[in-house]
Amino acid sequence: MCGIIAYTGKQQAAPILTAGLKQLEYRGYDSAGITVSSRKRLRTWKSAGKLTALQNQLPDSINSNCGIGHTRWATHGAPTDQNAHPHLDQNQTISLVHNGIIENIDTLRKSALEAGATLVSETDTEVLVQLLAIAIKKHSLTLLQALRQLLKQGVIGTYGIAAISFDQPDTIVLARSGSPVIIGVGDGEMLAASDLSALSRHTREVVHLDDGELAELTPAGFEVTTMEAHRTDKTPMMVDGNPDQYDKGGHTHYLYREIFDQPKTLARTLSGRLDTRFNTTKLGGLNLQPSDLLKLKRVKILGCGSALYAGLAGANMIENLSRIPADAEAAAEFRYRNPIIEPETLYIALSQSGETFDTLAAIREIQRKGGFVLGIVNSVGSTIAREVNGGIYMHAGPEVSVASTKAYTSMLGVLALLAILLGRTRDISPQRGAQLLQELDSVPGKISAVLTEEPQIKAIAETYSHAHSAFFVGRTTAYPVALEGAQKLKEISYIHAEAYPASELKHGPLALVTAETPCIIVLPESDLLAKSVGSLEEIKARGAPVIAITDSDNKRISQLADHVIRTPPADPLVQGLIMGVALQLFAYHSAVTLGRDVDQPRNLAKSVTVE
Ligand code: F6R
Repeated sequence: MCGIIAYTGKQQAAPILTAGLKQLEYRGYDSAGITVSSRKRLRTWKSAGKLTALQNQLPDSINSNCGIGHTRWATHGAPTDQNAHPHLDQNQTISLVHNGIIENIDTLRKSALEAGATLVSETDTEVLVQLLAIAIKKHSLTLLQALRQLLKQGVIGTYGIAAISFDQPDTIVLARSGSPVIIGVGDGEMLAASDLSALSRHTREVVHLDDGELAELTPAGFEVTTMEAHRTDKTPMMVDGNPDQYDKGGHTHYLYREIFDQPKTLARTLSGRLDTRFNTTKLGGLNLQPSDLLKLKRVKILGCGSALYAGLAGANMIENLSRIPADAEAAAEFRYRNPIIEPETLYIALSQSGETFDTLAAIREIQRKGGFVLGIVNSVGSTIAREVNGGIYMHAGPEVSVASTKAYTSMLGVLALLAILLGRTRDISPQRGAQLLQELDSVPGKISAVLTEEPQIKAIAETYSHAHSAFFVGRTTAYPVALEGAQKLKEISYIHAEAYPASELKHGPLALVTAETPCIIVLPESDLLAKSVGSLEEIKARGAPVIAITDSDNKRISQLADHVIRTPPADPLVQGLIMGVALQLFAYHSAVTLGRDVDQPRNLAKSVTVE
């Protein structure tokens, strides 16, 4: 979604702003722009389309040490030059960029028009900047005072804001409510961004603004204040700022790098967490004692998209190993159905970005009703990571490609660790615990083995890339794998894909299964294998091409399936982590064959910070 970058300091601002926007590109956007303050005036360039369209407009040298930049994902108004951010007031005295959505924009627009503003765009952001300029002029306020007054008195909605004004040429003003803003602390320079990636080349020292906070940055430092103008003395935290994590590592796509990084990233997720002494796992940050774990009566996992699918797999693992009833639900649906919050339920929020609005809103609803939420998050210091009652970081490193791969796998890794911990506290024996630790420990190596199957998977993807529709099927532990496989295929290749429990096919979807619909069947060796092979027979009888993913040597599978992708044998509980990788490669090569924009699929954003 939208991205913000801001800089004030001793260096030239424009190249830092455009480089920051480049880092933010992965979030998805449809226009971009910058404003710099220079000799008591503001200079703005903005353009619909990709960043190169903006860069083509910029003069060779722009002399300015302070400015703001933005990548916009259209909400209010089409992706045009006019609607691109930054927005300025009609006298060009203030420039402002904004992420989020203002809900009472009609009322605010009316006030701006009544006060004499002429609006040139369709955006909510322009209304804010016009109102700010009017207030500054009328009441002789500083930019910070005017912004505080406007937000406090009149603005309803979500925002991350950065603004500059021509008469405070080295000052940047920030505000946050529901949309991330992070300050980057430098030596004689200060930055701000909506995402750590845009700060990583400059500093590792950061300060996360909380909702309801504003900040003023000058090259000499920063001051964070509340809506009531009280100082909140925030100390910077250090983050892992290795900027190489944000490049493609020599590959054509971030997605490819992230798929192939998984043996390493999953190993990092598991590192130091396998407790072979007691045949259990260790999870610091849980904020739960064994006695709390013993009291649990239910586990409810919440997330969106791929995080929800990881949650479904995690619920299976937890219920299976701990015998605590567990399920997963879409965070947005949960929140709006007036859920019953129980004291002995462990609520788990799953999120790569830690900023997904719907997940965050569900967390707040649970906490408001007195529930305990455990966060499983990748992005260190993100809003969800800061707001939950206990947390486990995934340590997968920054995920840049819009489609989740390594974070999804690490989510499963953390859920498996948690399932073993709950299981060993409640139900499973030390022997089974030891066996599960070994199984989990061997998963990164088994993922490496799946990655060597790439040539076969690529050939299969090329064969079926003309398909208009594909089905993914699996049972129990394999069903969430099928869901995520369908999700990956549809989002990056745009081939329509549906996932079903294999048992459900005959209750409807079989009507659509023909020779034109490839079916991908996920067949882990398990007690249910024979039944799943029965479903394979059903599909084949309708003439559909079948791609089987299996670790079983069942003869019938090779007789029936058109293609068999073999994965190393593993406990069905962790097999999803391994088979999922084969499906990621299948989606990746389908998308590449079709010439899709693999890292930034149409209509999708990396971090969905709006409802
Ligand atoms: C799919 C994908 C999305 C995210 C979803 C939740 O590949 O990336 O479905 O999984 O938007 O995002 P996070 O995990 O950041 O909360």
